[in-house]
Amino acid sequence: MRARFILAATAGIALAMPVLAQTGASADFQKFRDVMEEDNPAELFEARGEAYWKTPSGPKHASLEQCDLGLGPGVVAGAYVQMPRYFADVDKVMDAESRVVHCMVTLQGLTYEAVTRQPFSNQSGTPAHVNVVTYVAGQSRNMPIAVPQRHPKEREMYQIGKEIFNFRAGPYDFACATCHGTDGKRIRMQDLPNLTRPEGAIKAVQGWPGYRMTGGLMLTSQWRMNDCFRQQRFPEPKYLSDTVTAILTYQAVNAKGQIYRGPGIKR
Ligand code: HEC
Repeated sequence: MRARFILAATAGIALAMPVLAQTGASADFQKFRDVMEEDNPAELFEARGEAYWKTPSGPKHASLEQCDLGLGPGVVAGAYVQMPRYFADVDKVMDAESRVVHCMVTLQGLTYEAVTRQPFSNQSGTPAHVNVVTYVAGQSRNMPIAVPQRHPKEREMYQIGKEIFNFRAGPYDFACATCHGTDGKRIRMQDLPNLTRPEGAIKAVQGWPGYRMTGGLMLTSQWRMNDCFRQQRFPEPKYLSDTVTAILTYQAVNAKGQIYRGPGIKR
């Protein structure tokens, strides 16, 4: 039933997109997205992620139900809006995606290489960890962003993220701040959020993981960051690198108190 919906929705997009391109108005796109989100394709990936979470698999034939996302083993509700955070067992700050991969390795006995061989969704499929992250994110729907800054390593991560955000380099001498450091910037028809203030910074979290209509793929925050390093003409960071965790920490802390609406739809 869901699969049929995706097909129908994709056909709808194919028809709707040229119209949007003609008007060129982001307000129109927002309206379109509001309608789409009433029956959100991300839910399909949430359901798959939940099934994976609860089903024993891997060499250790274990489910992820004992995974500690920061609130204790097995507690999923509210965990997503409180990551990245410090995890004592690894003595480092991890974002949701790093933590899910960590649990698949430690609990299920999979190798890190096997889990991360395909980091992002592509035409050949959606990796299991992406489904799981989408499930975890869905369990924080309508909760306020509350990424902790208690541990010194959490505060350090924020500071590093802030420096990366403002660091200018590359062939165009761009920083993230060049495109996302002030209000009212646009590229083509896309509004560029000001990620230094709460109302803008929430855009770095809101709707991610997101079902991207361009390409019809379920994509995570890690993917979004990679793609923006590319926009910046920087080398792509290694998957789940501390660099990306730092920048995710910076953005999520800036979004403190804003309400997360769950996995969404992106253009
Ligand atoms: C050359 C300009 C440019 C630079 C530099 C850039 N971005 Fe972006 N960013 C974009 C564009 C364009 C989008 C897509 C907006 C859309 O699709 O609505 C985007 C989207 C985003 C989003 C998603 C916003 C949303 O509404 O979902 C985030 C978060 C983000 N960028 C963060 C960053 C970070 C962090 C950096 C530095 C590593 C960075 N960007 C560097 C242009 C840039």
